[in-house]
Amino acid sequence: MKRFDTHFRSFGAWTARSSTLALGAAIAFAAIAAGCGSAISSAEPFGSTGDTGSGTTGAGGGTTGQGGGTTGQGGAAAAEGVPCDVAAVFASACNSCHGANLSGGAPVRLVTYAELTAPSAIDGKTETERSIARMQAGTMPPGGGAPAGEIATLQAWVDDGFQKGSCGGAGGAGAGGAAPDPFAAAPQCSSGNTWKGGASNDMAPGRACNQCHNQQGEGPVMTIAGTVYPTAHEPNNCYAADVTGAVVEVTGADGQKFDLTVNPSSGNFRSHNSQSIKKPYTAKVKYQGRERIMVAAQSEGDCNLCHTQDGTQGAPGRVLLP
Ligand code: HEC
Ligand code: HEC
Ligand code: HEC
Repeated sequence: MKRFDTHFRSFGAWTARSSTLALGAAIAFAAIAAGCGSAISSAEPFGSTGDTGSGTTGAGGGTTGQGGGTTGQGGAAAAEGVPCDVAAVFASACNSCHGANLSGGAPVRLVTYAELTAPSAIDGKTETERSIARMQAGTMPPGGGAPAGEIATLQAWVDDGFQKGSCGGAGGAGAGGAAPDPFAAAPQCSSGNTWKGGASNDMAPGRACNQCHNQQGEGPVMTIAGTVYPTAHEPNNCYAADVTGAVVEVTGADGQKFDLTVNPSSGNFRSHNSQSIKKPYTAKVKYQGRERIMVAAQSEGDCNLCHTQDGTQGAPGRVLLP
């Protein structure tokens, strides 16, 4: 039960993560505001560019831009002073919850030098030492803990007296093997290609499938459906790039596992009637031997309802390729 995040793409610019984690009410509101049209037109598919009303599909669109962040600083800049190997451990295993914007119920940010060396509320030792304890106990990340190598990296930094280091420039997943928080990425449509209309398994990538099918009384209502993207904040209707071979593994409440194929041309995935998936379920994305795991069990199968461009209901952004 470990996250493998060794593969990172370079992101164009650094921004703070989305400022708002809208909760249930916002989703309900967005459902009304989304305004699905009734015709499948190539000019304006379903008459709306956003299920959440947060941003457009145009260049530079979205609310994840620097002006929108409550934390004020971009991910890379904020992590200044933290040595690369240490930043990489937190970025890959922890920052999806303990990031610049907290999610998944995590109580503390573990990104900046100040945050990592601040005293923990539990025992007054630094958050890094507290992190080591939780990783050793197998309770962080939840449900599995971390491999010895990652723990050793953090322990070496503690033993070193928290020497300052850096990761080089933005996008610096370079020689040091450091990995920036992928959820700090700028919004972009990495394929440069958007859905222009027409109903099929590849339709409306990024948007909440069942929500619209229910509203329109058309299209299949699927137990599980969503979209996998190569970066964390891709806009609605953007086809995913480079997801060939990705699989979404869903584990039902009865322990049964189902592998859902990710369509290479859109990033969409879905379950079929023959698959009896019991809720609540957990999910992970598998790709080239790496995986990203959703720890929290969910009863809602419309993944993109929470995994919007910015993320709502605690989700950190898109369902992301590992
Ligand atoms: C899926 C979300 C998630 C991920 C990923 C995650 N955490 Fe947590 N973390 C939580 C939640 C929820 C809590 C509060 C409940 C608890 O303490 O168990 C927490 C609490 C903590 C605390 C504070 C509590 C304490 O004992 O001082 C530390 C430190 C911590 N996590 C470290 C880490 C580290 C280090 C990683 C990565 C190796 C990590 N977490 C990954 C969700 C997460
Ligand atoms: C904005 C509304 C809307 C969204 C969002 C939407 N759909 Fe649809 N979908 C429709 C409508 C309307 C139909 C029925 C059109 C028809 O049968 O001509 C449909 C039909 C379908 C069909 C049946 C196509 C066929 O060949 O009969 C599939 C499969 C499908 N949708 C998959 C999805 C998936 C997967 C998603 C999410 C990634 C999605 N849809 C998102 C409106 C939507
Ligand atoms: C009701 C909201 C909700 C729905 C629906 C939902 N998620 Fe999540 N997802 C979350 C939250 C909250 C987190 C962060 C905490 C965690 O990792 O459990 C998350 C995290 C994740 C992560 C890990 C993030 C990372 O990269 O570290 C993956 C992968 C994921 N979800 C996949 C899925 C898939 C696939 C589906 C649909 C089958 C889905 N989610 C449906 C709320 C949701």
